Amino acid sequence: MTDLVEAPASAYQDPSLPVASRVADLLGRMTVEEKIGQLLQLDARADLDDQVLRKHVGSILHASPERLRRAHDLVESTRLRIPLLVAEDCIHGHSFWVGATIFPTQLGMAATWDAALVERVARATAVEAAATGVHWTFSPVVCITRDLRWGRVGETFGEDPHLIGELASAMVRGYQGDGLTDPTAILATAKHFAGYSETQGGRDASEADLSQRKLRSWFLPPFERLAREGCRTFMLGYQSIDGVPITVNDWLLTEVLRGEWGYRGSLVTDWDNVGRMVWEQRVQPDHASAAAAAVRAGNDIVMTTPQFFEGALEALDRGLLAEADLDAPVSRVLTLKFELGLFEDPRRPDAARQRGVIGAPEHEQVNLEVARRSLVLLRNEGVLPLDPSSAGRTIAVVGPLADDAQTQLGDWAGSSGQADWLPDGQPRDMITTVLDGLRSRVPTDWTVTHSPGADILSLQPDPAGATFPDGQPRPPIVVPSAVDKRMIASAVAAAEAADVVVAVVGDRIELVGEGRSTATLELLGGQVALLDALAATGKPLVVILLASKPLVLPGSALGADALLWVANPGMQGGRAVAELLLGEIEPSGRLPVSFARHAGQQPTYYNQVRGQHGDRYADLTQAPAFAFGEGLSFSSVEYSALRLERSFVGVDDVLEARVTVSNTGSRPALETVQVYVRDAVTSVSWADRELKAFRQVEVAAGESVTVTLTLPVAECSIVDRHGRRVVEPGEFELLVGPSSRTEALLSAPFTVG
Ligand code: NOJ
Repeated sequence: MTDLVEAPASAYQDPSLPVASRVADLLGRMTVEEKIGQLLQLDARADLDDQVLRKHVGSILHASPERLRRAHDLVESTRLRIPLLVAEDCIHGHSFWVGATIFPTQLGMAATWDAALVERVARATAVEAAATGVHWTFSPVVCITRDLRWGRVGETFGEDPHLIGELASAMVRGYQGDGLTDPTAILATAKHFAGYSETQGGRDASEADLSQRKLRSWFLPPFERLAREGCRTFMLGYQSIDGVPITVNDWLLTEVLRGEWGYRGSLVTDWDNVGRMVWEQRVQPDHASAAAAAVRAGNDIVMTTPQFFEGALEALDRGLLAEADLDAPVSRVLTLKFELGLFEDPRRPDAARQRGVIGAPEHEQVNLEVARRSLVLLRNEGVLPLDPSSAGRTIAVVGPLADDAQTQLGDWAGSSGQADWLPDGQPRDMITTVLDGLRSRVPTDWTVTHSPGADILSLQPDPAGATFPDGQPRPPIVVPSAVDKRMIASAVAAAEAADVVVAVVGDRIELVGEGRSTATLELLGGQVALLDALAATGKPLVVILLASKPLVLPGSALGADALLWVANPGMQGGRAVAELLLGEIEPSGRLPVSFARHAGQQPTYYNQVRGQHGDRYADLTQAPAFAFGEGLSFSSVEYSALRLERSFVGVDDVLEARVTVSNTGSRPALETVQVYVRDAVTSVSWADRELKAFRQVEVAAGESVTVTLTLPVAECSIVDRHGRRVVEPGEFELLVGPSSRTEALLSAPFTVG
């Protein structure tokens, strides 16, 4: 039984003492049960009394506002009153707080290629989350996108390690603010360490077939950057690599992360990683052995494996663990809590602060800015922008997603399934859909009509049961909707009566996220038939692809008069789209990930290793439909006169290049100048070209600007056969241009001596 008698004032409660002394004092007072509890993070939707009073839980996640209050109150009644660490997935805004600002998803943010903007998003998120009593967000995702069938592509920053590193680093700065004592800061998490995205056939959390060299080449660099820059927590992926679950991967956790990179932050497992070693991966016979293995491997916090509590006790009994083994991780958890000042101020929800910051106008403004910048124009045959000076026009807004407010927010927001306290999602009146946006922004003498035109899917219960063995809900089975001729006919009638058609199609939450990878990448349900029918009307057709990830598009979309990918653009997304269509803003987004022409082309990322027979399938090109880095402006932009300051350099030098960027059209452009490096001959096979730098420049209509680009030669590295990152002297090419497509890049050779 827990002793409810109040503890005497003791050293650990004295804020004037150094943290190390407070930790030592507290550790000395703790029972074994209390120590184990500190290593646990439990789902606050379950039995809080059991969690706090019996399991002495150290951290909770997914707490509704009411349950968070209750959890803090329960802690007040415990013997040592060790404050809780409160975590939530605030990954594109404070996802599950009613009325919070919900931004575009990470992949949408990545399309801005603007680290400063992403930092502002994270800062706003932290300010909102901190006011509600959240101390820790599980963001950013720094996995690299590989197979587009994976359900979590939309949570990533795309396929390129350099772009991911730039944006993730900015995001961590935004979340962590001025450090642990900053009351508006929240802890960031680099996840999912590491290699989680290297799925087999896109299947979520399947074994990652990765060598240590491949990890070091492409998967680890963004993590290394965050570790060195002070990201306070790392989350360990679900999967195993070469037979070893990440949770117990000594090489990754001890040798690389804590050893080579000198990481001093905390490690949290992903959801039930410890239990999964028993019931799913079956590499541990029982929870006692799994708990012992996880502690010995250096984990600090075990997420949602309630059996860890009894398991660790049994492991102590059986001699699989010694009490001293608990002391290092418990000390790390307590240190974090002391450094956050939680013993003095548990940072409970603050209603007054919330009134000032949740959904605040300045956050809405950042949201609008990031939504605008996230839109990627992939095709425009001159139909855009629509001309607001032409009188009395009619726009037919069709498609199942034209007015689907919650889908526009994407995964990890509102009613996306992870939280049970906002079943209806975020308030409808905070979300501007594409239909709303156009209705409110077209000239007063224009008419906007609307017809959904198609259904996407329905759901059927999975005959395998409603839950997995760990009690987690099993996603229902998606059944694509049949083509509905009547719906199509009414959309076609709307199109025929209009001057221009805006069709909003894409995916839905049921096709996105954990355990929801897709076998296909096509537009589901009646959407392709709808687009085909709309194209056949001959009316100017603008396709808005509102999709969490790149999809495979039919000819009617690829050949439409305009095509715009908007990811899941958040609450302001519909307004931003309307502004773009009406030419109030310039399109500037660039693809952070390539689009395939067929699911069978997977993977389609641009930075693939050289060496294969031929360069196409017998029945299809290997070229993507749209490549990493692509995106159009309303204007036309040309690159010329790439020149290097010096073309013979040493490893410690900095390359300096200039390129002329000319806006040959009649509208301003925000151009993302991309710098790739090709190493002519490498000692081991390597990617043909890799993004190493980029700069965004505004170029006025008819103007040319000279853009200076700098790149440390040390960045022109590969990972050699021994796993060492090295620059191999020899011939290189600096490739500069508007996208990763070889034919779009200017080349300047240089030699590293
Ligand atoms: C599992 C997901 O993989 C992870 O990304 C998330 O942060 C945790 N669940 C907590 O919700």
